[in-house]
Amino acid sequence: MIFSLGFATLLSLLQVATAQTTTATSTAPGATSTVPLNYAAQAAGKLYFGSATDNPELTDVPYVTILNDTAMFGQLTPGNSMKWDAIEPEQNVFNFTGGDQIVALAEGTGKIMRGHNLVWYSQLPAWVTATAWTADELTSIIQTHVTTEVSHYVGKIYAWDVINEPLNDNGTFRSDIFYDTLGSSYISIALRAARAADPNAKLYINEYNLEYSGPKIDAMVQLVSDLKAEGVPIDGIGIESHYILGEVSASELKANMLNLTSLGVDVAFTELDVRIELPATDADLEQQKSDYTTIVSVCMEVADCVGVTVWDYTDKYSWIPASFPGYGEACPWDENLVKKPAYDGIVAGLQS
Ligand code: G3I
Repeated sequence: MIFSLGFATLLSLLQVATAQTTTATSTAPGATSTVPLNYAAQAAGKLYFGSATDNPELTDVPYVTILNDTAMFGQLTPGNSMKWDAIEPEQNVFNFTGGDQIVALAEGTGKIMRGHNLVWYSQLPAWVTATAWTADELTSIIQTHVTTEVSHYVGKIYAWDVINEPLNDNGTFRSDIFYDTLGSSYISIALRAARAADPNAKLYINEYNLEYSGPKIDAMVQLVSDLKAEGVPIDGIGIESHYILGEVSASELKANMLNLTSLGVDVAFTELDVRIELPATDADLEQQKSDYTTIVSVCMEVADCVGVTVWDYTDKYSWIPASFPGYGEACPWDENLVKKPAYDGIVAGLQS
């Protein structure tokens, strides 16, 4: 069939194909900076700039090539494979396969690891939630889970999110199997078990909506203060930083971070992204760039902010579209792995 086409026809078909390719891949002007993010963070005195990743993504060679560049990313967080349902799907049956794969990737490329997470209300296997445990039984279950997981990775994890998302937005403790059975003591039970299993790992509580003033950050400050007073090991608070476009307040964020660090803990941005209501306009992408600059700058201004982790670096693997229908484009690389203006925004923040 194609042999019956004349040269001019072939040429015009080729031009159409080229034009379509160009149209499909050209969006707003992308990033112009060539400064790698982890190097810039370390040059500014921070420990790392990192990214979440997830095991199914690791077969995507172009994605992994960028992820593996340690000038770009100096730290990894597993998005799912160190959570309770992955690690201990049945009682006393442990599966470290997915977590091990990400630790090996980090070790092979000279990155540090954040372990995520040990005790969380979500992604729990049915065996944990389906039984009315006594306080003693659940204490033992938490201790076994935390001790076994932290011991498996001893010496390989810079910081653990030991407790994930323990608070409601109104500042009360979240009702879940742990709180409902043990009260807030489940937090100290897990933190003490983690410290005993790896005395050198930094132990964090990780939470969202600490970026804004209000009862939730007040409750977290009170919780850290109480844990410190009781001699419970606590080294850091993870500020997840899942932002909506245009809702960044540098002054609130900085004040909240300083309220925490004044108690003697580190802080880190652990899951940063900035979601946009779709379709994203060029102006939205410029606002996103500005938001990323503002957020990252605050970490630069707070001495005990140790680093920044984006909740995956590319829109290709962002959790946002599935969880917030109508929103997306939250990451600094687009879904074709092309850097967005947000990338320049991060560099500007790191160099501020
Ligand atoms: O493992 C199953 C798989 O067997 C099944 O085929 C597939 C079908 O949908 O689902 C898989 O589970 C998914 C899991 O990710 C692993 O890919 C869940 O549906 C999905 O809901 C889950 O989403 C994760 C989410 O936590 C769960 O709450 C996201 O990937 C992960 O990025 C997200 O991360 C959380 C942090 O841990 C805590 N802070 C908020 C953040 C965003 O929600």
